[in-house]
Amino acid sequence: MLSITHTALYVAFSLISLVTVASSMRHNSPIPPPTTSLTDRFPHLGFDAAFTYLFGGKNIKKINDGSCVSITLDNSSGCGFKSKEMYYYGFFSAAIKLPSDYSAGVVVAFYVSNSQVYPHNHDEIDFEFLGHEKRKDWALQTNIYGNGSTATGREEKFYLWFDPTIDFHEYSIVWNQYHIVFLVDNIPVREVSHNEAMSRAYPSKPMSVYATIWDGSDWATHGGKKPVNYKVGPFVAWFKDLEMAGCAWNQTSPAASCSKRGSLSRDPVEGNEFMKLSEQQQRGMQWARSKFMFYSYCDDLKRFPVLPMECRGRGKSLT
Ligand SMILES: *[C@@H]1O[C@H](CO)[C@@H](O)[C@H](O)[C@H]1NC(C)=O
Ligand SMILES: *[C@@H]1O[C@H](CO)[C@@H](O)[C@H](O)[C@H]1NC(C)=O
Ligand SMILES: *[C@@H]1O[C@H](CO)[C@@H](O)[C@H](O)[C@H]1NC(C)=O
Repeated sequence: MLSITHTALYVAFSLISLVTVASSMRHNSPIPPPTTSLTDRFPHLGFDAAFTYLFGGKNIKKINDGSCVSITLDNSSGCGFKSKEMYYYGFFSAAIKLPSDYSAGVVVAFYVSNSQVYPHNHDEIDFEFLGHEKRKDWALQTNIYGNGSTATGREEKFYLWFDPTIDFHEYSIVWNQYHIVFLVDNIPVREVSHNEAMSRAYPSKPMSVYATIWDGSDWATHGGKKPVNYKVGPFVAWFKDLEMAGCAWNQTSPAASCSKRGSLSRDPVEGNEFMKLSEQQQRGMQWARSKFMFYSYCDDLKRFPVLPMECRGRGKSLT
């Protein structure tokens, strides 16, 4: 009797430790290489000073005087907020914590766009977080549209090297005349050079900053096979450490806006460290792309039998 109990206990113990090892391996986050912290250089903005409601206002909650904001998707509505100003180049960043547990069909987005002002030839730079039926598998999609180039989606998709539902992580966009860089916790994951190949599709008109949560049932998870399940909702994402530093566009007096070229520019993303990636940043980007990128439009020959121009140079300037 005693020995049976012992054996049972031993088996139970072994099982528990096996499960623990397996789960700690699954949750064992790889350590990213060291990198420069660009997000440390800019002030955090309060909601009321810099943002305004876009839609679904009842699902937006300001926390700590607006230093943190939660946005909710429930069975009645998603919601979103946008910047009061439009920017002509800049650095845009948010620390985001995504909805935990089952989140198939849910889309959380942090992006800059001017589709409300230029419906026919709009520009857009996107972070889109696509929910999943397994907690850890939020996918990060990045995308760019320039001057209405919506016929060519320039998507790249990544898994994250951490669980984005446990803590806040920083997602940042650098956009200037030299390049567009997407960064996750200050590690560049994608760089789009403003070269000859991209010139017609390079975002180059003032844009507003947006944060939204919405129902992407028809496409977000496995091409629409997994719709939002409102029984396990509501789905809540938190935003904090909001940063927008750039050339605020003065619509009434464009000439009074900061210049986007030349050494006299007042644009905070014109300095050396924003012109090109350092070697350290390039190593970080290589690390992120080699380990975590699982889709690039540049590799999608089914979709593009003739690859877009910029893919042929693979990030190198074609000039
Ligand atoms: C929406 O959710 C609320 C709260 O969970 C619930 O009371 C309500 O019945 C739901 N409505 C629909 C149309 O499913
Ligand atoms: C952007 O689109 C507008 C309208 O379609 C066009 O006039 C303009 O030349 C385009 N700009 C670039 C840089 O291609
Ligand atoms: C825009 O420019 C006008 C004219 O120079 C100025 O009066 C106004 O304060 C400016 N607005 C902003 C938001 O900077």
